[in-house]
Amino acid sequence: MNRFVIVCESLTGNTAILAEALRAHLQTENIHITTPVLADTDSSDVFFVGSWTDKGDCGANTAAFLEKLEHKKVFLFGTCGFGRSDAYYDTVYRRFADHLKPTNQIIGHYICQGKMPETVLRRYEAMKAANPDCSRWDECIDNYRNALSHPNADDMQSLFEAVDAALETIKAKT
Ligand SMILES: Cc1cc2nc3c(=O)[nH]c(=O)nc-3n(C[C@H](O)[C@H](O)[C@H](O)COP(=O)(O)O)c2cc1C
Repeated sequence: MNRFVIVCESLTGNTAILAEALRAHLQTENIHITTPVLADTDSSDVFFVGSWTDKGDCGANTAAFLEKLEHKKVFLFGTCGFGRSDAYYDTVYRRFADHLKPTNQIIGHYICQGKMPETVLRRYEAMKAANPDCSRWDECIDNYRNALSHPNADDMQSLFEAVDAALETIKAKT
């Protein structure tokens, strides 16, 4: 059995950056990184499950994987396009967590912003051009620009801190 398994669903690469950084941070040979489709639920007792955000929730494959888990320790992480708000990150985390059965223990979580494709900016610009008096599209464009630099080194540091705290909790209980 692996000591840790990282399960990652990443459409455009942002969440995969966090997953790879996490693998390096955990500094153990006994770690396996995989996708939710290929992941074996019996391969570990501790799963780090990361996903992009789609319609406010984790990816469909991640949801299906989380729903299969029983009696595991789970750290949830992810990236989302909207943000700069802990309240929003918390909402996203709770949507991910809702896929887990109560027999599992959530040992920690971390969500941050992730850059979006340029097509999103083009859509916002078109909406702004069609509705010049509506400030919503300026806010969306501002958010898009802010997301371009994420996930960054600070995000990774925050992820590592959340993971280290989660591992301390497990250690204290064993
Ligand atoms: C089809 C689609 C739907 C998305 N839906 C949301 C959403 O509901 N909420 C959000 O915050 N971000 C949303 N995003 C933004 C992505 O979740 C974000 O860019 C994330 O960092 C992508 O992660 P990845 O690079 O690991 O795939 C969406 C992006 C796409 C392409």
